[in-house]
Amino acid sequence: MSILIIGTGYVGVTTALVFAELGFEVTGLDADERKVQTLSEGKLTFYEPGLQDLLDQHLAAGRIRFTSEAKQAIRQNTILFLCVGTPSDENGSADLRYIRAVAEQIGQSMDDYKVIVIKSTVPIHTNERLTAWIAEAQPHPIPFDVVSNPEFLREGSALQDALHPDRIIIGSRNQAAGLHIQSLYENLNAPCFLTTPTTAEMIKYASNSFLATKISFANELARLCEQLDINVGDVSIGMGYDHRIGPHFLKAGIGYGGSCFPKDIKALLHIAKEQHTRLSILEQVHEVNETQVEHFLQLWERKIGGFAGKRIAILGLSFKPNTDDLREAPSLAVIRYLTSQRAQVRVHDPVAKLPASLQSAGVRQLEHLEDAVAGCDAAIMCSEWDVYRNADWEQLRDEFKQLNIFDGRNVLDRQRLTELGYTYSGIGNAARN
Ligand code: UGA
Repeated sequence: MSILIIGTGYVGVTTALVFAELGFEVTGLDADERKVQTLSEGKLTFYEPGLQDLLDQHLAAGRIRFTSEAKQAIRQNTILFLCVGTPSDENGSADLRYIRAVAEQIGQSMDDYKVIVIKSTVPIHTNERLTAWIAEAQPHPIPFDVVSNPEFLREGSALQDALHPDRIIIGSRNQAAGLHIQSLYENLNAPCFLTTPTTAEMIKYASNSFLATKISFANELARLCEQLDINVGDVSIGMGYDHRIGPHFLKAGIGYGGSCFPKDIKALLHIAKEQHTRLSILEQVHEVNETQVEHFLQLWERKIGGFAGKRIAILGLSFKPNTDDLREAPSLAVIRYLTSQRAQVRVHDPVAKLPASLQSAGVRQLEHLEDAVAGCDAAIMCSEWDVYRNADWEQLRDEFKQLNIFDGRNVLDRQRLTELGYTYSGIGNAARN
């Protein structure tokens, strides 16, 4: 059986490779010809562990191909997965312009029955809107079904998540179409929940919102722990043993970033506003996240007597380890704050690249960790790449001007660093120093 994946961004490429791995013939369609060319040559357009091997393997076996010929690709396939972006509009709502453009293309090109599956994260009732857009674009009526099948994979562990999902959610008005899509996943050994399209759309927003709520809860609690000389990380561990709470997404830090949580929370708040319903908890989740960087930077700033004129190394630019994605990365808020305080900023990241706008603002990226920390008054860790956990902090000691470590992810070994002479401060545990 063949599957068409429309949109070869992060979710699209991962989904395409997972279906190829499951034995389907997969075509990735993208309007961006350069992207199609790059992927056809076996090069990924983003960094994600594990995907390169699968791309090499399935391109060689002819199980995956990439094209920008929309009409032909749509006609050749019955199952079409929509994986195009739904960025935030100015008012926080999800911008559906790419979904609409694809809907029109499908309506104009299709010449027989199709099942169109929405994987992109979309507002409630998009399923109906997509159905209407496709029908309007058809020169004459041809039957089709639209199914919602939200994606729950995380960047940095996309392949593992997609091959071993906790659940598969399928929302369909037509049960046969829903069961057809369910059958694609039968070898994945994951529970499948068949529901309505609107419920499926809400499950996606509610899941991301709940995970962000756990993080903001831990982050706000960290502020109190800081005052009370309690280690918030230990509080999370203790709480996490309770199965009703669970240990995941309770790690306090400088805040969540990425292309999903910030965008999806804004979108759900926008949906609630449109319905004149207040999601006050979610408003606070957003608020805590927006103020977390500044809250802790101000505490750390006092510890080193102000950032002005100091040289500070940023360790980890990406919004989390194992990705080169900088979207809504807390590191960027940290850098903005530091430059506004006239600090000299040096940056290190194993993969992610400093945006040109920050380079022209005088921020410098160094390839080697020892060069990044050389002559620095402090290092601030923004994403917990293994290279920092496993760094030789004894040797690095000679490079620093002042031995200050601000651990924005609470993962470095405080005891060891303190023994080596560093002044260590984390999130929600710094008062003990
Ligand atoms: C998130 C969800 O976890 C996925 O299930 C979902 O499919 C995806 O959004 C999406 O909607 O596409 P992702 O944004 O890739 O995945 O990354 P996460 O691992 O969720 O991390 C998000 C942010 O939360 C990161 O900045 C991370 O550092 C932060 N975080 C995570 C914490 O601060 N504390 C934690 O305990 C966990």
